[in-house]
Amino acid sequence: MALDKPYKNVPGTIIFDAEMARKGYHLNQFSMSLMKPENRERFLADQEAYLDEWPLSPKQRQAVLDMDLNAMMAEGGNIYFLSKIGATHGLSFQQMAGSMTGMSEAAYRDMMIGGGRRPEGNRLKDLDGWTPPAPGEKSETMRENPPARFTSALYTSHVPAIGAAMDLGKTEEPYWKKVFSGYEWTRKWAKENTPDVVILVYNDHATAFDSSIIPTFVLGTGEEYPVADEGYGPRPVPDVKGYPELAAHIAQSVIQDDFDLTLVNEMVVDHGLTVPLSLVYGELGVDEEWPVRVIPLAVNVVQYPVPSGRRCYELGKALRRALDKWDGPELNVQIWGTGGMSHQLQGPRAGLINEEWDNAFMDHLIADPLGLTEWPHMEYVDEAGSEGIELVDWLIARGAMDDQFGGGSPTVDHRFYHVPASNTAVGHLVISNPVAPKSDEAAAEGQSAPVQAESADRPLAEANA
Ligand SMILES: [Fe+2]
Repeated sequence: MALDKPYKNVPGTIIFDAEMARKGYHLNQFSMSLMKPENRERFLADQEAYLDEWPLSPKQRQAVLDMDLNAMMAEGGNIYFLSKIGATHGLSFQQMAGSMTGMSEAAYRDMMIGGGRRPEGNRLKDLDGWTPPAPGEKSETMRENPPARFTSALYTSHVPAIGAAMDLGKTEEPYWKKVFSGYEWTRKWAKENTPDVVILVYNDHATAFDSSIIPTFVLGTGEEYPVADEGYGPRPVPDVKGYPELAAHIAQSVIQDDFDLTLVNEMVVDHGLTVPLSLVYGELGVDEEWPVRVIPLAVNVVQYPVPSGRRCYELGKALRRALDKWDGPELNVQIWGTGGMSHQLQGPRAGLINEEWDNAFMDHLIADPLGLTEWPHMEYVDEAGSEGIELVDWLIARGAMDDQFGGGSPTVDHRFYHVPASNTAVGHLVISNPVAPKSDEAAAEGQSAPVQAESADRPLAEANA
């Protein structure tokens, strides 16, 4: 089920998309380094030595030394970035463009003076009768036996003080023991249900993004994400390994599905992402590794306007369509929604907790996610506190589940609620899509059977009785 990339066939043209950006990442970043005069000087003085500082592939390196722009673009370079190399060599943009056409500089210049290259004979439709594709239909049904299986959704608060309690060895203290007791089941379950990748939905807390840029939805397409220093020093936990191939695929599919994501290759990740990992996988040190690869998906809830619950739910649906289009290696995928529950960190109303509202939110998330999308922002802020708005993050994971695509209802494997953790109510849910055995053999051996929570695993209807 290949993604829709008709631009791949436009003659004499390389379109720079997420796949190419991943391939050419270091080449393009090297090109950008030539924005600084001192770097241009060093590059011109000794190109080989300067290139040694960049992890380019042999083909990319040779293409730079040959000043072969076509070869650089074939290896993921983008002309806007690569033009910095040309400029360093003193080439004009016209000289650079001409160098890629096989024409002499004079012939190219004359062609441009004569009105430029005519489109006739240089278009895809001239070559094969191509007509623009109809807008892609948005599937409302699931793919049977997809290589990327979305197995479970996990929801949790990501209170920074929970991370500090783990980092400072306070988990056995009576105050914190009550919080962590709600995750004992999850840690056991997580050991037996480790996915290949977690798409981790969270919100950045003025850490990776400040007032200079306010992206609504950020998809992490990088290889690795360092743990942020949020003012107290970085948490002593492992850096996070990404999954750039799957992230690039998701970017391609979701943006074609009308969601204008911001793609970020380099960013630090704050407690919103690392605290859930610690809650589920335990206290790992900086020299250890998280057992999963993570694709960060950050939602702006810092500066209004923030996306609605409905928008987040629809993004979840687009995410599921992307997973269903994956034709790469077989993957077990979990989507986590994090943040909340009720809390207000500001002003005279700080400390607001609304247990009834929080539990109603979880009830609706389980049984009536579409109805939940109708709850307006004011409802979150008024009832769950100004920072309770983080709960919209949960709708993304829920929108991607089987029952939103005509499949079976999820099972509620685990549910927990506690007040307080510092200023915040803690909510936690694990709900799973119905198990679809990959083969008769697997079913016979029970390899896909979910771990049953004691008295917690129950059909949806019963859970809401
Ligand atoms: Fe938060």
